[in-house]
Amino acid sequence: MITVKNLVKSFKGRRVLDDVTLEVKRGETMVIMGGSGCGKSTLLQHIVGAIQPDEGEIWLDGTNIIGLKEDRMNEIRRKFGILFQSGALFNSMTVAENVAFPLKEHTELSEEVIDIIVKMKLDLVGLKGFGHLMPSEISGGMKKRVGLARAIAMDPQIVFYDEPGAGLDPIVLAIIDKLIVDLSKKLGITSVVVTHEMGSAFRIADRMAMLHEGKILQIGTPEEMKNSKHEYVHNFINGLIPEESRT
Ligand SMILES: Nc1ncnc2c1ncn2[C@@H]1O[C@H](COP(=O)(O)OP(=O)(O)O)[C@@H](O)[C@H]1O
Ligand SMILES: [Mg+2]
Repeated sequence: MITVKNLVKSFKGRRVLDDVTLEVKRGETMVIMGGSGCGKSTLLQHIVGAIQPDEGEIWLDGTNIIGLKEDRMNEIRRKFGILFQSGALFNSMTVAENVAFPLKEHTELSEEVIDIIVKMKLDLVGLKGFGHLMPSEISGGMKKRVGLARAIAMDPQIVFYDEPGAGLDPIVLAIIDKLIVDLSKKLGITSVVVTHEMGSAFRIADRMAMLHEGKILQIGTPEEMKNSKHEYVHNFINGLIPEESRT
């Protein structure tokens, strides 16, 4: 579903992504983990076509997106949903209007049909009956759910998440993780999740990739990563890397 090949990107002469190669299979959940500043968000931004690499290829469902014209890229973007850390809700819109936003922007569907879809999506994330509330009236965990409902509004084949657990307490985080897993499986979605939260990573992942200083150190199943012989991977997973470099 997603192929990243020999991706290289430098900012101001510094290599932030250094020969990154990664494959994500249809329907699987790939977790990209790594410490602060290792290039996780930059990698995700490349895969969604927001940043162009210096070198390398990115294939999404059979299309090489490098150098793609904006209108072709926008067509491809319809296939995926995004839940970014900064992907905040529009505070002036109700919960339902937030979820309806991509449908109004990108489709010709009637108000009635959009209403039905929005209700379905809110139901899927456990927010039945909350559509009329404003973001200021709901909790952080509920806001994440709304973001999730919005990310799946267009029935995406792929959903990208950048630190979906940011700012959540451990209990709410575990609930959101479960929701991500349930939705992905129920809807057959291919997911790419960036996180530095090891608990989340192991709850969510079918496979995981460890990124460090712009390089992929290892890719494997949770079991394989747990048994990693790679010192950095072992230390990171077991919490032996200082907290300040993990956030
Ligand atoms: N647009 C940019 N210009 C210059 N440097 C950037 C830019 N975006 C990211 N960086 C740098 O690239 C490195 C990786 O950033 P990022 O991908 O955001 O890391 P992560 O998401 O893993 O914390 C950081 O050192 C960051 O400062
Ligand atoms: Mg980041």
